[in-house]
Amino acid sequence: MTEHLDYEFPLQSGLVYLNHAAVGVWSRRTAEAVHTFADENMFQGATDYPKWMKVEQSLRQQLTELIHAESIDDIALLKNTSEGLSIVAYGMDWHIGDNLVISNQEFPSNRIVWQSLKSQGVEVRIADIACDDPEAAMLACCDANTRLLSVSSVQYGTGLRMDLQRLGEACQQHGIFFCVDAIQSLGALDMDVQAIHADAVIADAHKWLLGPEGLAVFYISPAWRERLKLHQFGWHMIEDIGNFDATSWQAATSARRFEAGSPNMLGIHALHASLALLLEIGMSNIERMVLERTSALIDMVLEDKQLELVSPSQWQRCSGIVTFRFKTMNHQEHIMLYQQLMQKRVICAYRAGGIRFAPHFYTPYACFDEAWSRMIACYNA
Ligand SMILES: Cc1ncc(COP(=O)(O)O)c(C=O)c1O
Repeated sequence: MTEHLDYEFPLQSGLVYLNHAAVGVWSRRTAEAVHTFADENMFQGATDYPKWMKVEQSLRQQLTELIHAESIDDIALLKNTSEGLSIVAYGMDWHIGDNLVISNQEFPSNRIVWQSLKSQGVEVRIADIACDDPEAAMLACCDANTRLLSVSSVQYGTGLRMDLQRLGEACQQHGIFFCVDAIQSLGALDMDVQAIHADAVIADAHKWLLGPEGLAVFYISPAWRERLKLHQFGWHMIEDIGNFDATSWQAATSARRFEAGSPNMLGIHALHASLALLLEIGMSNIERMVLERTSALIDMVLEDKQLELVSPSQWQRCSGIVTFRFKTMNHQEHIMLYQQLMQKRVICAYRAGGIRFAPHFYTPYACFDEAWSRMIACYNA
């Protein structure tokens, strides 16, 4: 298994890559799929376009399997998470006085689009989830006028993993649309969109899914698929796709209705290869390996008395993200430390006022010791 992973992830020697919560790395087979696709385009253009369409179909099937959707018809391929959130936000029929609930730890994409609805008389309620019961904090913001609750499956700064099933069940009970930004968990943690009662789940491919930027999965529940108003139109979203002579049309009954024009075939070939690897290893294995690494990093933080953990340490709250701070350092000093780490080829991020490490399932444990000794050297310098 380790040899296989070394083959699939031949990262440069000396590079410590702990940044999957920002942009992940590609596996070897992903890079090869892109090379092959490029060669094909160079030598024969789109001669074999039907073959590409089979890859596209196969990707939809892989995504259906990955998130345990009921049907391939629930899946659309979009540009990014923000586009999917916007499709939901502007697809709903809002009335003055409606409200929606988000948390105070959301990445801007899962806040700005909701705040943009202010002009339609929609109130955005922001729950403070830095507490013992983040789900209760979100649900406490809901009332009879709440139409939607949108949350990240894992918070990008702290790595807090939300109890999606609990939120989904409560939303279902009260007729609230349950929208999940899954970009910080899909590919790292298992997800079952039906078990969590999600109405929409969206994630771009470039983080834990080990794919390219600019291609996102958009799950929309069968109940909502045809209820969301459409705002993007083109040849690709109609039921009778390929019939260029028809002058009348209907939107596709499948989630393809949200895909206006030509697909991102290059991205599709890349993500198809990435998902083949993830599904081959299995999401339950990957989740276990991710959480084992998180646990090892958390132990390292907790053992070092100079550090404080920003991320949660309870197992059910953990994700692939471990964020921590030096107790004696302020924000500015953490930014400088982050810059020094990057110079020393420890690829990480400055988030939530601290250093964010985000390894993936394949990351060798030796990388943690290496990151640690380089970080302590920076701190002591
Ligand atoms: C939780 C979360 N949502 C959305 C995004 C950005 O999404 P996209 O660029 O796919 O719109 C990020 C990126 O860091 C994120 O962490």
